[in-house]
Amino acid sequence: MAGALSKRSPRGVNHSGASAEAERPRHPISNDVEFADRKVGKRMISESTCAMQCRAKVISLATLSQENYRVRLECPELAQVILPGQFFMLRSPDRTDPLLGRPFALYDTYLENGKPVGIDVGFHVVGKMTALLEDVQPGQNLEIWGPLGNGFPELETKHLIQVAGGIGYTPFVAVSREALLQKKYGQTQRTGIRAERASLIYGVRSACFQANMDDLSDLNELDIQICTEDGTAGHHGLVTDLLKPLLESGSADDQVVLTCGPLRMMQAVSELCSKYDVRCWASLETPMACGFGACFSCVVPIKTGEGSWDYRRSCVEGPVFPAKDILWGDIS
Ligand SMILES: Cc1cc2nc3c(=O)[nH]c(=O)nc-3n(C[C@H](O)[C@H](O)[C@H](O)COP(=O)(O)OP(=O)(O)OC[C@H]3O[C@@H](n4cnc5c(N)ncnc54)[C@H](O)[C@@H]3O)c2cc1C
Ligand code: FES
Repeated sequence: MAGALSKRSPRGVNHSGASAEAERPRHPISNDVEFADRKVGKRMISESTCAMQCRAKVISLATLSQENYRVRLECPELAQVILPGQFFMLRSPDRTDPLLGRPFALYDTYLENGKPVGIDVGFHVVGKMTALLEDVQPGQNLEIWGPLGNGFPELETKHLIQVAGGIGYTPFVAVSREALLQKKYGQTQRTGIRAERASLIYGVRSACFQANMDDLSDLNELDIQICTEDGTAGHHGLVTDLLKPLLESGSADDQVVLTCGPLRMMQAVSELCSKYDVRCWASLETPMACGFGACFSCVVPIKTGEGSWDYRRSCVEGPVFPAKDILWGDIS
């Protein structure tokens, strides 16, 4: 955490000196009352209450682009309950290195005879676990536990704008399908995300890192806008260059932005949304050790009221937070 935070008060006490819990008894991720009043956010806490641990069989591995892959895992119990924006931990049962599981977002579920029987994981190779995943063979087992985290809120909007950077686009496959009524996730009573129109702004460093959009090719209604930092595909520039005209083209009440990707990209998206008074939720990719709330390795500073803040565990109270509540400058 940045130095500014280390001078502040200890966990559980806000910097105005009062107990954050006493001052604001509601769960901090219910901070979206303002959003709820504007009839877009109903739920911030997952309806799936129990995470499960199981062995998942590798079904297939596909290449999405340079260093980006999709692995398909058979795990019906998890596939039937997991929601867009939730995640799970993965590790190899046959090894102690890496010892800890690694968090991955739901990319999509896959169905057999109309029922979810497994999940797809989109990943970018950065280190030990993802290098192992790059080499998995069909039939091999992985240890998986989930669903974890809150997922994106149930919401209804005229225009859903998803802004992704790099591998941060993975949650938006399931979100787009749900929003455009193409697929249901989780339990049947869930309303989920609903949008009259959906856009995906997807930025990468260079064209070679841009995942092919084959897994979304059947979603004709989804407006996909690509940008690259080096101009090798799509717009030459940043995701915010593409977001700004979209925000300007509609009314704030009719738009909702969801974002996932590099921290500073999400901060820029959040600041732009604040400027246009558009509601925005961010899915943080905070490094995690346990994934279920025990180790506090994943805490992030979140506003808990006027002038006060406290740490929240990204794995339990997140990873999705109202972007306006995240103290972006205090996350390193
Ligand atoms: C809720 C959540 C969902 C995620 N979903 C996905 C996903 O769908 N696909 C995907 O590819 N990745 C996802 N990530 C990131 C993923 O967990 C890390 O890339 C993964 O832990 C790397 O494991 P590794 O063993 O390969 O790398 P490691 O050997 O653990 O690390 C390699 C390098 O990457 C850095 N690193 C590791 N994790 C992070 C992180 N979270 N942020 C910034 N730097 C990091 C390390 O500091 C190190 O320098 C998600 C993270 C979170 C918290
Ligand atoms: S990862 Fe352990 S508390 Fe969040």
